[in-house]
Amino acid sequence: MAETPQGQETLSNLLHESRRFPPPEDLAAAANVQADTYAEADADRPAFWAKQAERLKWEQPWDRVLDWDPPFAKWFTGGTINAAVNCLDRHVDAGRGDKVAYHWEGEPGDTRTITYAELKDMVCQASNALLELGVEKGDRVAVYMPMIPETVVAMLACARIGAVHMVVFGGFSVDALGTRLDDSAAKVVVTADGGYRRGKPSSLKPAVDEAVKDRPAVQHVLVVRRTGQDVDWTDGRDVWWHDIVDRQSTEHTAEGHDAEHPLYIMYTSGTTAKPKGILHTTGGYLTQVSYTHWAVFDLKPETDVFWTAADIGWVTGHSYIVYGPLSNGATSVMYEGTPDTPHKGRFWEIVEKYGVTIAYMAPTAIRTFMKWGEDIPAGFDLSSLRVLGSVGEPINPEAYTWYRKNIGGDRTPVVDTWWQTETGAIMVSPLPGVHSGKPGAAMRPLPGIAADVVDDKGESVPPGGGGFIVVREPWPSMLRGIWGDPERYKDTYWSRFDGLYFPGDGAKRDEDGDIWLLGRVDDVMLVSGHNISTTEVESALVAHPKVAESAVVGANDPTTGQAIVAFVILRGEAGDGGEDLVKELREHVAASLGPIAKPRQIMVVPELPKTRSGKIMRRLLRDVAENRELGDVSTLTDAGAMDKIRTAFGSGS
Ligand code: WT7
Repeated sequence: MAETPQGQETLSNLLHESRRFPPPEDLAAAANVQADTYAEADADRPAFWAKQAERLKWEQPWDRVLDWDPPFAKWFTGGTINAAVNCLDRHVDAGRGDKVAYHWEGEPGDTRTITYAELKDMVCQASNALLELGVEKGDRVAVYMPMIPETVVAMLACARIGAVHMVVFGGFSVDALGTRLDDSAAKVVVTADGGYRRGKPSSLKPAVDEAVKDRPAVQHVLVVRRTGQDVDWTDGRDVWWHDIVDRQSTEHTAEGHDAEHPLYIMYTSGTTAKPKGILHTTGGYLTQVSYTHWAVFDLKPETDVFWTAADIGWVTGHSYIVYGPLSNGATSVMYEGTPDTPHKGRFWEIVEKYGVTIAYMAPTAIRTFMKWGEDIPAGFDLSSLRVLGSVGEPINPEAYTWYRKNIGGDRTPVVDTWWQTETGAIMVSPLPGVHSGKPGAAMRPLPGIAADVVDDKGESVPPGGGGFIVVREPWPSMLRGIWGDPERYKDTYWSRFDGLYFPGDGAKRDEDGDIWLLGRVDDVMLVSGHNISTTEVESALVAHPKVAESAVVGANDPTTGQAIVAFVILRGEAGDGGEDLVKELREHVAASLGPIAKPRQIMVVPELPKTRSGKIMRRLLRDVAENRELGDVSTLTDAGAMDKIRTAFGSGS
């Protein structure tokens, strides 16, 4: 139970989920990774990662696999490597230049097919253009782009010449872009006139103009023409991509960069504080993204068509649209727009059109598809799919089984992959040919990853226990720090438990020893002395046939310390709720998780507040539940959502 002699920090373990989905026999027999790999990696972790690093082409071999000066790690020291060469030249030189790197699909329906040879030429030209603009090795280059091939080209051109890319999600505001430009001191911004979203051109260049106005550190703005929108122009500073890139040579001789040379910075927006510039370097990062992309998705580069339906502005896009797939020589799909444009079957139409075999997306998208109904995917031929992945949040068991059944034809394994911007690559996930899938469980640390679930003292919890996920040993793609702030790196990740990396997520271990992620520790509720995970209560609500989505928070309560307040969106056919339904839902939660988890209040709302990456902003809901002014709403997708929720809350159920 929740109370421990040291305090009350251990998470209760409430949810019981007994469905199991064994891997298809043929997939298991031919799987890239078999069960014995765990023992091999445990026997000698650095040796295991050194073996994986040999998947890549090194200009100069490393002297030492790992230098560990806690909490600062260096991997493959003495080695030199070029990430762009590994993503492009290596495949072209091996005679695979005609292989498709990307099937790109624009939102309006325009398409581009780009081979490895073509992509290499584009990247060499862009490298030469950046050099002409005065970009030097180590300089930071901001990339504020729609989802178009030039975004990948810009990133790889940076990697090729040793500049550090700093991609800012194209949906972020002027302010968000500005603070990131300041913190990284970027010299060049690569952008576009705009991109297509929800059926119309959405502009980017005006935000860049505004952001660079008072930032003289930015010397040039390199602009791709995508939509043809009118743009303001500052002569001398602004340069059209087609003017400067297209006239460059397609030859560029790449040098090997130090294994620890910075590859990119990606900012994560903490809830209130200044965003953290998460730094990734070259050799270790590429090793782990390449290995995990091959192992977790059972990638067969010859035949698979891989699709990560995420934006390149998130780490998911960096690792599994760009560096993982390209380093493995895979064929990927890249889609510019939203899933409901021009119709709600757009994703499934893309799967059918390109014969996608592996698809990777977020639970928030999956729950949206559930809301839209299973008839929509049923209208498309999805039989090419053989592995499905989930990332970004805990996946509710109900969303998992819906995904497996309606998208995966009750045939495909679903891999729930836990990781973070900071970890760079997947850390905890089932392997599709090894494990029987459990809806809602991320299962096991990958081979070579020393993740564990510990209690508030940092001791491993036994099967059936709950607490926190930690990582005990360094891993190759771990963040190398927070840009410009080593103290904050130590404080944020290494101070909670002595010598352990603390990601900030609650977790439990089930009776079989498998790991379940239970959301951010900040979101855990303390109800009458029991630490209860918001994720478990949300999953219980989503399992009710009338509920499409839910968000649960702990609100101050005079008797229980905190009380559970739930916000739910109903499925289309469920009507508007009413008191009987609320009562039914409260009873339903009590019946599935126990009376301790019965919500004090359930509010039926039309929308939930989400960040641009689709995560529910529970902190704002807590403000509503406790009748406070709302905190920072700047990362919210739709500010109007909060008004509707307040109104619903005010009228009270
Ligand atoms: C946080 C990291 C991973 C790339 C995209 C998000 C949550 C992520 C899972 C999962 C449960 C998950 C965690 C983590 N998270 N994947 N499979 N199960 N939780 O990267 O924005 O850095 O967010 O997302 O809370 O700490 P991010």
